[in-house]
Amino acid sequence: MKKVLITGGAGFIGYHLSKRLASQGVELTLADNFFRGKRNPDFEALLQLPNVKLIEGDLTKPEAWDALGTGYDEVYHLVGINGTKLFYSIPHEVLRIGLSTTMNALEWFRSKNGKPDAKILYTSSNEAYASGFDLGIIEIPTPETAPLIISDTYNSRWSYGGQKLIGELFFIHYAKAYNLRMAIVRPHNFYGPRAGYDHVVPELVARISAKEEPFTIFGADDTRSFCYIDDAVEAIQTVMESKKTDNGTYHIGTNVETKIGDLVEKMFELMQWHPTETVQKNSPEGSVKRRLPSVEKIKTDTGWEAKVNLEEGLRRTIDWYLANPKPAEK
Ligand SMILES: NC(=O)c1ccc[n+]([C@@H]2O[C@H](COP(=O)([O-])OP(=O)(O)OC[C@H]3O[C@@H](n4cnc5c(N)ncnc54)[C@H](O)[C@@H]3O)[C@@H](O)[C@H]2O)c1
Repeated sequence: MKKVLITGGAGFIGYHLSKRLASQGVELTLADNFFRGKRNPDFEALLQLPNVKLIEGDLTKPEAWDALGTGYDEVYHLVGINGTKLFYSIPHEVLRIGLSTTMNALEWFRSKNGKPDAKILYTSSNEAYASGFDLGIIEIPTPETAPLIISDTYNSRWSYGGQKLIGELFFIHYAKAYNLRMAIVRPHNFYGPRAGYDHVVPELVARISAKEEPFTIFGADDTRSFCYIDDAVEAIQTVMESKKTDNGTYHIGTNVETKIGDLVEKMFELMQWHPTETVQKNSPEGSVKRRLPSVEKIKTDTGWEAKVNLEEGLRRTIDWYLANPKPAEK
């Protein structure tokens, strides 16, 4: 049976990827310290499956990697500190945790995993190039060859993009130096159930449910390309399993550019409520105006394309959040 490790397995992407791989019968180990991942009923149900095991540990510590065992065929390295609010509030931790877990992952993989054909996948981010938009040096749609850049080292937001940029360099140069199989993916605005409560879609579900009046829309003209989580984890698995993707970088997302204002309107419509007044405010400093990946490379090399359109994805996401509202703060 194929042996697979997912670091950050209790997180948003980790949970959905785990569910998908577990249903295909692989022997699955999830590693997480619950910094952000949650032991909610969905996750507990996953852990009941006979082929799924959880190992709790802080992966900034090399000993935690030793506790994971050896002989994995595939390692999905998803650990990181995600969530825009955290980039602003704890940028030093975003850097420390992101970089130390990535360095530990590569050291462990090259020296201890002990499976010569194994492959390791890194989840980078569009934030590693995004600040180039405002400097006018990033084309739209953005290909994988775009320069990685941090436009302002003093803006805390770029702590996240900065450590992803360096993480990519680590993966590329470890793979070259030790002849490893690896792939880098850059997720673009994945959304869906169980994404926490700070993400744009769950925040909107909560405010629309509360019938906020007047209704504030932040960055209404900013654009994003939203990718539903089922499509996203299919893409991540496809990149892992293809030999053609070895030692390459792939954008994962959709080629549909959506204005935040239009997303909000679509959600009013799906939730059958509209405020009498809306107020527009700017998005936080450093927030990027446009984001649209080119997804040609993944399509050419693997045949993958997103299937779930925004309306269907939002419908599924809204249903989940209405059934699982944010627990009251203790
Ligand atoms: N969700 C997106 O749209 C998106 C976009 C770009 C990049 N990414 C990247 O993809 C990866 C997964 O993203 P996600 O949305 O699932 O994030 P997430 O925060 O939901 O999951 C990350 C998981 O890592 C765990 N973790 C954090 N520090 C740890 C540590 N020291 N030891 C062990 N576990 C630790 C957290 O508890 C969490 O469960 C991240 O690296 C993220 O930066 C995600």
